[in-house]
Amino acid sequence: MKILVTGGMGYIGSHTCVELLNDGYEIVVIDDFSNSKPEVEDKIKTITGKDFKFYEGDIKNRKLLNKIFEENKIDAVMHFAGYKAVGESVKKPLMYYDNNLNTTLTLLDVMKEHGCNKFIFSSSATVYGKPHTLPILEDFPLSTTNPYGTTKLMIEMILKDLFIADNDLNITILRYFNPIGAHESGLIGENPNDIPNNLMPYIVKVATGEYECLSVFGNDYDTHDGTGVRDYIHVVDLAKGHIKALENMNGLKYYNLGTGNGFSVLDLVNTFEKVNNVKVNYKIAPRREGDIDACYADASLAKKELGWETTKTIEDMCKDAYNFVIKNK
Ligand code: NAD
Ligand code: UFG
Repeated sequence: MKILVTGGMGYIGSHTCVELLNDGYEIVVIDDFSNSKPEVEDKIKTITGKDFKFYEGDIKNRKLLNKIFEENKIDAVMHFAGYKAVGESVKKPLMYYDNNLNTTLTLLDVMKEHGCNKFIFSSSATVYGKPHTLPILEDFPLSTTNPYGTTKLMIEMILKDLFIADNDLNITILRYFNPIGAHESGLIGENPNDIPNNLMPYIVKVATGEYECLSVFGNDYDTHDGTGVRDYIHVVDLAKGHIKALENMNGLKYYNLGTGNGFSVLDLVNTFEKVNNVKVNYKIAPRREGDIDACYADASLAKKELGWETTKTIEDMCKDAYNFVIKNK
C-alpha cells in the first residue's frame, strides 16, 4: 500500500513516516520546507533503513500534485502540511486561510481526479474551544478562538460536506491533543528556530541555557496547582495512531488522539527536571490571552474502534524531548 504523506518532513509527519516505513508501507512525501529542514529525509532513511520518494514543493501547486499522482499509484493520503502557530495566525490570518485551506482543497480535488478515496486529516483539540466539561468527547460542541483553529474547523466542515456528496470516500479526522517528545534515536524531533509558543520547546531551551527563564502563564487556574493542565501525548504514540487509523478506515470518522491524562505546567517542569537532572528556571507570569484552565481527552473511542492506546509516559516524553535537542545542538 502506497501512502502520500504531505508535510512529511515536519514534526509529526516525520515520525509518522518512520512508523509507516517500519510497518512495511511504501510512502511518497511532499514538503516545501516552509517549516522543516531537508536533512530530515536522510534521518528518516537512517532510522528505518528504508528508501522513499520525496518531492519538494507546495501542495497548492496542482501541476506538481498531478505529477505525483501520475508517477505513483497512491492508495491513501495523510495530510499533515499546514501552518500551525496560533499567535502568527492572529497576525497573518490570510496567510493561514490561504495555506491551510487551499492546500487541502487542491489535494482533495486532485485525489478525486485520480480515484484516491482515503484521506486522513490532522485536526486539533483546538476545535473544542473552551470545553464545558472534561474529559473531552468527540461529539462535544465545536468552536474556535483564533484563525489557525478556524482553518481546522473549516476543513472539518468541508470534509463533512464532501462525504455527504460522495459516500465512497473514507475520511478520518484525527484531533490531536498536545504532542511532545521525539523519536528515541534523537535523530528527529521538534526544535523550532523562532521563539517557541509551546511549552515543551520552551522548557527545553531554558534547560539548555538558550533562554534564561520560562514564564508560567498564570497560577490561578482552576487546577490542582493553579497552572494550566493539558493532555501531553508522545509524538511516537501519536504517529502510531495514524497507522491504526489507516488500517481501520470506514466512512467519515472522528477520533481524539490523547492519553486521557492531564498534567499541569509545573508537573511538566518538575518531571523534566527530575528525569533529565537539569534545572528549569521559571517565574509566574500573567495568564496568556485565550488559554483555558484544562483540556484533556476521552480517548476511549480510538481504543475501541482503532485498537489504539498510548504506551509512553510523561517521563518518556520529557527524556526524549531533551535527548533530541542535546544531540542536535
Ligand atoms: P510542522 O510545521 O512541523 O509540519 C508541517 C509540515 O508541512 C512542515 O514540514 C512544512 O514545511 C510543511 N508545509 C506547510 N505548508 C506546506 C505547503 N503548502 N506545501 C508543502 N508543505 C507544506 O507541524 P506539525 O507539528 O508536524 O503538525 C502537523 C499537522 O498537525 C499540522 O496540520 C498541524 O496543524 C496539526 N497539529 C499539530 C499540533 C502540534 O501541537 N504540533 C497539534 C494539533 C494539530
Ligand atoms: N505555557 C506556559 N509558558 C509558555 C508556554 C505555554 O506557561 O511559555 C502554558 C500554557 O499557558 C498552557 C500550557 O503551557 O497552559 C500548554 O501551552 P501550549 O502552548 O504548549 O499548548 P496549548 O494547549 O495552548 O495549544 C497547543 C497548540 C494548539 C493546539 C492545542 C491542542 O498550540 O495549536 O495544543 O492540540 F490546538
